[in-house]
Amino acid sequence: MTNRRTILKSIALGAAALSGGVRLPWHAIAQEADKFPNPLQIPELLEGTLIDGVRHYNLSLQEGTSQFLPGLTTPTWGINRNFLGPTIRMRDTETIRLNVSNNLQEATNMHWHGFLVPAICDGGPAQTIEPGTTWSPEFTLHQRAATNWYHSHMMHNTGPQVYKGLAGMMIVEDEQSASIELPSQYGVDDIPLIVQDRNFNRDGSFRYITRYDELVQGIQGDTILVNGTVWPHFVATTQKMRLRILNAANSRTFTFAFSDNRPFVQIASDGGLLETPFERTSMMMAPAERADIIVDVSDGREVILLSHGMVSTYPEHPGDLSRLLRSMDTQSFEILSIRPQSSLAPSPIVPAALSVITKLDPSAAVTTRRLNLMMGHGHRSGEDRGAHSGLRSGFGGGFGGGNYSINGRHHNLGFVNEQVPLGDIEIWELNNTSPMTHPIHIHNVHFQILDRNGTPPPPEEQGLKDTVRVRPSELVRVLVRFEYYTDPETPYMYHCHMLEHEDRGMMGQFVVV
Ligand code: C2O
Ligand code: CU
Ligand code: CU
Repeated sequence: MTNRRTILKSIALGAAALSGGVRLPWHAIAQEADKFPNPLQIPELLEGTLIDGVRHYNLSLQEGTSQFLPGLTTPTWGINRNFLGPTIRMRDTETIRLNVSNNLQEATNMHWHGFLVPAICDGGPAQTIEPGTTWSPEFTLHQRAATNWYHSHMMHNTGPQVYKGLAGMMIVEDEQSASIELPSQYGVDDIPLIVQDRNFNRDGSFRYITRYDELVQGIQGDTILVNGTVWPHFVATTQKMRLRILNAANSRTFTFAFSDNRPFVQIASDGGLLETPFERTSMMMAPAERADIIVDVSDGREVILLSHGMVSTYPEHPGDLSRLLRSMDTQSFEILSIRPQSSLAPSPIVPAALSVITKLDPSAAVTTRRLNLMMGHGHRSGEDRGAHSGLRSGFGGGFGGGNYSINGRHHNLGFVNEQVPLGDIEIWELNNTSPMTHPIHIHNVHFQILDRNGTPPPPEEQGLKDTVRVRPSELVRVLVRFEYYTDPETPYMYHCHMLEHEDRGMMGQFVVV
């Protein structure tokens, strides 16, 4: 174990020596003249083509290059473009078909995060798309209006593939959302904000994992991209804007707020519109969480969307684990400058009632399942309990550190962890026995959060969710019901959405029967 540690330390030192503590030019440039010189890119809107009653969307996964830093070129991946993908918009009850062509040199796949779909259409780790082939899932929408997204879910390779750019936003509209008035002009007052952090090598390429730390904390990039734009600004032309914020970082949690601490109104979370709007001044979002907010810029002043660094409460004790956990998400960032133009078009008043959420009755739950989120001690290299058992010894190892598991089992494509009967109301207990927060995502469902260690959730978690932060020593109970499809053969996933944890085993599988 000392060996591994020494090697990893020297890799880290090597990397530090390479970047040499020299300030990279873009920092200097950004600090002099305009700190936010780049207009925010707005991904193109893909509304599909109706063919015989089915709405078709064509997605080409491809390699390209992007210009993030002055004078440097970054090799990237994208969908119909060089980095990230178009925003796919659709409407509830329609039947859609997504033609996903893999024009990359390696196998990948595509998951529709936030969608209720037949298991074979879900785009989980077993559903790979080989290079040169096209995968065309087709399904009918049973969706609330929401901001969802799509991303690679490749086995042991989701982190690297999403990091290169395989992700995009999906917007669902439904009858409820069509019947209320909200800012809804895409790119004008209805703005996608795909927020990610990245590290760069000196040649401009993305730097993925090079240090042991990054296996524990996940990748923590020092440069923020919004829709693939570094140091972006957006010129507001309306008094209010709807910002659809998606934390598409691999592992970083953000705490969003505005530079003048102005209040904003949250109208939606992962599962779509909340029942009523909710005013707040800051908002914590883990990877994969979404929040739609309305911000008022009618005072005409420039305002900056920030992320505040967290203050860690993890106890200080000797050793790397304490150091790593205490330093997580402690950095602050300036993310986006919003610049109102001199005359602003009027915006609708935020409706007092946004949607109706049909709540499930916890006393009708017929099954309780407990998922223990587990992490061994970092540096050790553990042993499997045997081929395909999915069981680990509980300490160390496996894919290079962390030993992430659920109920002591690493994700194993050949092992179905849970069988869930269609239509049953169940309570899933997400029980974090590890020393760090894990954002847990369950596929094919929007769940209700019942409580955290017995305490009912705050307003922002009272809508429907598909990803929930589970803090150390916390037991979060969620109410789930799978309503549409059965398939005893093809599993859905549940997992930590810190992609470096997911790729290292903190994932399980269930079938709906
Ligand atoms: Cu956003 Cu299983 O994924
Ligand atoms: Cu998902
Ligand atoms: Cu995790």
